[in-house]
Amino acid sequence: MFAVAIDGPSGAGKSSVSKAVAKAAGFVHIDTGALYRSVAYYALSNNIDVKDEAMVGKMLSEITVRLVLENGEQKVLVNGENVTGKIRTENVSMAASDISKIPSVRAFLLDTQRKTADEYNVIMDGRDIATVVLPNADVKIFLTASAEKRAERRFKELLAKNEEVEYNKILEDVIKRDRQDTERETAPLKPSDESVIVDTTEMSFDQSVDFIANLIKERL
Ligand code: DC
Repeated sequence: MFAVAIDGPSGAGKSSVSKAVAKAAGFVHIDTGALYRSVAYYALSNNIDVKDEAMVGKMLSEITVRLVLENGEQKVLVNGENVTGKIRTENVSMAASDISKIPSVRAFLLDTQRKTADEYNVIMDGRDIATVVLPNADVKIFLTASAEKRAERRFKELLAKNEEVEYNKILEDVIKRDRQDTERETAPLKPSDESVIVDTTEMSFDQSVDFIANLIKERL
């Protein structure tokens, strides 16, 4: 199987770029953030404190999380319930960042990610794909952009959905999540030694897609 690992901070465009590249290359796109989001969503829905390791550990022993692919589209089922449509809120974003610090959560989701890469040619995006999940990936990319640019993209996305948002609040959240994801002890966000750093601050979406598609072509 062929694997492309795409890591980077939130809002760098990993998911949308990966999706487009996967489509063009005939690969399956796996968004691993959705797994952390689903676990966080389940905790929030059941009044479980996402920072309480013991409570979260107990919760993990009581749930199953499955990643399924339907016509190439990824869905995440928690205890059989498809939560995919419910995990894209700002609340869940921050809770996912909090819960992902807990080592037992990371260990719990590791197998699912690796098994998927065993079964399909994947473009897998996350924070620790090249460093931990798929250290033997064929292509390793670290996709990033300035915090201001990432907040601006998120701001426009939310405005387009008619959500009431404040740019400064989004920027604050982006910076806070960056810090949490980068400074945590287990599997922090960082490029692997072999990762190609792609900074999209000054790149359009199409340019980012072309750049990465070319990197993959070179190694195929
Ligand atoms: O990519 P995302 O914004 O959907 O991810 C949500 C959170 O999940 C992110 O703040 C950190 C965590 N995460 C992680 O720790 N490791 C991954 N491979 C993917 C996401």
